[in-house]
Amino acid sequence: MKLLAHILCLALALAWAHADDVHAEGEEAHADGDGELDRCQGLEMDAVTVDEEGIPYFFKGDHLFKGFHGKSQLSNESFTELDELHHVGHVDAAFLMHYEHHPTEHDHMFFFLDEKVFSYYQHKLEEGYPKNISEVFPGIPDHLDAAVECPHPQCDEDSVLFFKGHDIYHYSYQTKKIETKHFSSMPNCTSAFRFMEHFYCFHGHLFSKFDPKTGDVHSRYPKEARDYFMRCSKFGEDSDHVERERCSRVHLDAITTDNAGNMYAFRGHHFIRKDEGNDTLKADTIEHAFKELHSEVDAVFTYEDHLYMIKDDQLYVYKVGEPHTHLDGYPKPVKDELGIEGPIDAAFVCEDHHNVHLIKGGDVYNVDLKASPRTAGPARPIEAFKKVDAAMCGADGVKVIVGNHYYHFDTPSIFISTRALSEQHKVSQQLFGCDH
Ligand SMILES: *[C@@H]1O[C@H](CO)[C@@H](O)[C@H](O)[C@H]1NC(C)=O
Ligand SMILES: *[C@@H]1O[C@H](CO)[C@@H](O)[C@H](O)[C@H]1NC(C)=O
Ligand SMILES: *[C@@H]1O[C@H](CO)[C@@H](O)[C@H](O)[C@H]1NC(C)=O
Ligand SMILES: *[C@@H]1O[C@H](CO)[C@@H](O)[C@H](O)[C@H]1NC(C)=O
Repeated sequence: MKLLAHILCLALALAWAHADDVHAEGEEAHADGDGELDRCQGLEMDAVTVDEEGIPYFFKGDHLFKGFHGKSQLSNESFTELDELHHVGHVDAAFLMHYEHHPTEHDHMFFFLDEKVFSYYQHKLEEGYPKNISEVFPGIPDHLDAAVECPHPQCDEDSVLFFKGHDIYHYSYQTKKIETKHFSSMPNCTSAFRFMEHFYCFHGHLFSKFDPKTGDVHSRYPKEARDYFMRCSKFGEDSDHVERERCSRVHLDAITTDNAGNMYAFRGHHFIRKDEGNDTLKADTIEHAFKELHSEVDAVFTYEDHLYMIKDDQLYVYKVGEPHTHLDGYPKPVKDELGIEGPIDAAFVCEDHHNVHLIKGGDVYNVDLKASPRTAGPARPIEAFKKVDAAMCGADGVKVIVGNHYYHFDTPSIFISTRALSEQHKVSQQLFGCDH
């Protein structure tokens, strides 16, 4: 860490006692010995955006969190010039330009640091940048709090929303016209985020979903960012597990349906259960129902009334029933039981078959569960995905979950061989019925 620059920055912040800057100190105390930050402590993020692949980036100080869980890294590891050219140690605002009619700007990431703007394309700084904000976005003030893209038709025209204090600037990308608005029901955003076509304003460790045209915030907000946008194991024990798990944007670890058609979906320390013929979801801790496994399973499949649960290189087997009972002698090494080294990313068995399809990276391996000893067949590359988070198979075919979306295929071989992606469905809304 550029400790000196950092200390200087803090000193200045304290000396000036800018309301905007004060938050920088208290929370920096959450950093551990390596200067790494823990997002589960309730950080107020400086800036949030997605990259061109849809992966969320959360900026805090000179650190960056990629995705919804995992450790922080220095921002300059990904975006060298943010640091080299401009030692401010934090990003004020960031967004991903979504402007399909204008291929030269579409999918560029913009970062705002004090009075400068940086434009990156495919993680490379564009020539001529950084520039003054006033050159690229005339009329938009320096030292922004937040920014978010608002493409047509979510906004009347392709726009960017900039936030500073109470003021919100609707900037039309085409005409460069600015409309200044005050959204009276909305808190001052410290960062703003467009995700799965919804708009979120983060303030402190809370967030509110808002309508980009009117600024309306639904009364159920604000909510806790750690419940929905981060995976924090020890957090939220007294919050509503069902509501959180069904609407969380964090990807699932594993999913399966048992032979009766009951669905189990696992994420972190929790799982959701949806019983056949009943739309009421239930959520519980993995610790409670699958004590031996504890948490964070990699892949789960169902075979002959047993749940096969893979975590790292170990296989756990539970008999389906209330309560689920762990079979004696397990866990056993995945290698011994299935003939392939763990960890496994996803696994599924289709009804009336004895083959488990194990997904590891971009490959699928078949294992005949009736064979003894079991051996894994040759690796078959999946044409459409480099990585899969979870998958399940039922009477209607295979559902493959990647990030916040799932894809449906009629058969496993169609899943493996299809090049063009089928229709994308949202996990939270379409699988779990989250209404927002
Ligand atoms: C990134 O920042 C760290 C700490 O601020 C510094 O030690 C390192 O040299 C920087 N790396 C690059 C590539 O600029
Ligand atoms: C950018 O802003 C600085 C400080 O306000 C000014 O000195 C400089 O001329 C500006 N650069 C351009 C290219 O407008
Ligand atoms: C929001 O920003 C305005 C400045 O535009 C400031 O006066 C006000 O105190 C801020 N509100 C909060 C809650 O920080
Ligand atoms: C669905 O499950 C809920 C919660 O366990 C239960 O209260 C309800 O009676 C069930 N409904 C049906 C139709 O089985």
